[in-house]
Amino acid sequence: MKKQILAATLFAVSMAASAQGQVNIICSVQAEWCNMISTVYARTTGTKVNMALKGSGEALAQLIAEKDNPKTDVWFGGTGDPHLQAAESGLTIEYKSPTLAQLYPWAQQQAEQSGFKTVGIYSGPLGFGYNTELLKKKKLAPPKSWADLLKPEWKGDIQVANPASSGTAYTMIATLVQLMGEDKAFEYLKGLHRNVSQYTRSGTGPIKAVARGETAVSISFVHDAPQERMQGFPVETVTPAEGTGSEIGSMSLIKGARNLDAAKKFYEWALTPQAQTFGAAAKQFQLPSNKSTPVDANVPDFKKIKMINYDYAKYGASAERRRLIARWEKEVNSLPR
Ligand code: F6P
Repeated sequence: MKKQILAATLFAVSMAASAQGQVNIICSVQAEWCNMISTVYARTTGTKVNMALKGSGEALAQLIAEKDNPKTDVWFGGTGDPHLQAAESGLTIEYKSPTLAQLYPWAQQQAEQSGFKTVGIYSGPLGFGYNTELLKKKKLAPPKSWADLLKPEWKGDIQVANPASSGTAYTMIATLVQLMGEDKAFEYLKGLHRNVSQYTRSGTGPIKAVARGETAVSISFVHDAPQERMQGFPVETVTPAEGTGSEIGSMSLIKGARNLDAAKKFYEWALTPQAQTFGAAAKQFQLPSNKSTPVDANVPDFKKIKMINYDYAKYGASAERRRLIARWEKEVNSLPR
């Protein structure tokens, strides 16, 4: 009898799913958030959600690879620069959401700059994470500035991601170029390279390594630290005294999407205040883009941080992003440590 009920339920669920279609999503935030929105959206709408988790740079690479035969309908999250590159490369489509006016100006600007081929869904500042216990043990003061990270005391004790796969690391390069000028920024990156133990694939890898005491310092988005603290790890963050950049985490609809209607419905849902609360519910503390979304106390306060006026259009341009990453590979990553 139980089996029959189960079969009937499964049948009903699958009928609902097929009635509402499916949507294929690349998700570039952390797994807990991706899984939460996937489950909630599927349950509440009956839409079948296929979700693949990829870092920002990797997501872009996949969209380029499947350009002639797209398997993705929506790209949710990840730093804005590769979304802008995707827009410019004709990988995503123009869509003017009726919800745009409800979003903060930075999120609307991201849409305008791309010809409405992407939109801001969250924002967050770049900074450093450090392990308070490890620093105490080593009798080291927390770094306060970009300059501090070049000190020999950090040799082998800094982690940052690889800009080819990670939007976080690309945000760091673009930030340094805007702060120092390009040649000085590359001199800086060469100096930093001497202290870096590992360039991780994912942008959140370094703060997790800090949390677990595998490295003392990370270059990370500040909003990725509270989650580690909540799990009991001794992690603090600081933003550099010289100034720092930020990301505009974005969302785009894919050109040639097989499930465009379902994709637009998901996209609209993702811009609602209700859907945007799932970030904080999954312990991820970016600033949500809808002005009506409640802002969790763990979200970094931009007013207290020295921010640069990050030029998203310039550093999201295809040629610029490709050129800077190639220069980093050639002049920095190839150097011995
Ligand atoms: O999900 C956390 C996060 O820091 C996002 O805010 C950001 O968009 C994304 O990771 C970037 O990931 P990656 O650096 O791996 O592309």
